[in-house]
Amino acid sequence: MTEATTSRDTVSAPSDAAAALSVKSTGPGAGRRVLVTGGSRGIGFAVAKRLAEEGYVVAVNGRNAERAREAVENLRALGHEAYALPFDVTDRKTAAEVLAEDVALRGPFWGVVLNAGINRDMPLAAMSDDDWDDVVNTDLGGFYNVLRPLVMTMARARKGRIVVVSSVSGMVGTRGQTNYSAAKAGLIGAAKALAMELASRSITVNVIAPGLIETDMVTEENRERILPLIPMRRLGNPEEVAHVAAFLLSDGAAYVTRAVIPVAGGLV
Ligand SMILES: NC(=O)c1ccc[n+]([C@@H]2O[C@H](COP(=O)([O-])OP(=O)(O)OC[C@H]3O[C@@H](n4cnc5c(N)ncnc54)[C@H](OP(=O)(O)O)[C@@H]3O)[C@@H](O)[C@H]2O)c1
Repeated sequence: MTEATTSRDTVSAPSDAAAALSVKSTGPGAGRRVLVTGGSRGIGFAVAKRLAEEGYVVAVNGRNAERAREAVENLRALGHEAYALPFDVTDRKTAAEVLAEDVALRGPFWGVVLNAGINRDMPLAAMSDDDWDDVVNTDLGGFYNVLRPLVMTMARARKGRIVVVSSVSGMVGTRGQTNYSAAKAGLIGAAKALAMELASRSITVNVIAPGLIETDMVTEENRERILPLIPMRRLGNPEEVAHVAAFLLSDGAAYVTRAVIPVAGGLV
């Protein structure tokens, strides 16, 4: 991961922490903090923005620290509460350190939206070791690396929400995506298992399975190939995914757990 950055600078920066906590929020998220991995752009940024609009304090993660900070600046310019928490979700040690430091400083998260992901599409016969490893380590490995350090802190609080962004590709298997489908299917299994472990603590764990959503991840080739298969005959937009994430984070979703919700225009 060439863009990997450690985030000790931002986590421990007192001015950043103070700025994030000084604004008084209102709305359903008031007094609640949510981590959005891969929140610097695409679906993750739309989720971060939607949650910030609802009054949550949003910790914006991404690999690229500069991009995460820019996203935070954009949210703050709109009057929202956010701070950057950049780290590479494949870097287990740094993730654990950064998250432990953040929780020690600010307390347990109310919610985690596990959204960071990449794809490296290629038929298996032509796939490189790196194509396989990078996708599995990011999309599935991030689940362990991010949630392992947080889950006990949330369990002790006996409340909270975990939303995992998988993909329709993980539900049905998609040609040219053995790595991505494997990782995204693995996420569904992991989320359902964790839902069982945390249900008695009133913590819900749910999966969103987007179809084809208009972001940097969509190639022209995928658009042309998949668009005719979508019953609604259009791509989704990131805000449509964010809306479902916001519901799953809300008090109204307290009895929804272990669910997989496609946001895919009828693709599955
Ligand atoms: N777009 C779709 O059609 C679609 C469909 C189904 C599922 N999804 C899933 O939705 C999620 C978001 O996708 P997207 O379309 O919004 O992608 P995107 O526009 O490419 O954004 C990806 C985000 O993930 C971050 N990220 C990637 N690798 C990371 C790592 N190792 N550590 C920390 N952050 C990392 C990126 O940070 P940087 O900016 O620092 O790189 C960026 O914020 C992914 O899990 C994806 O698999 C997308």
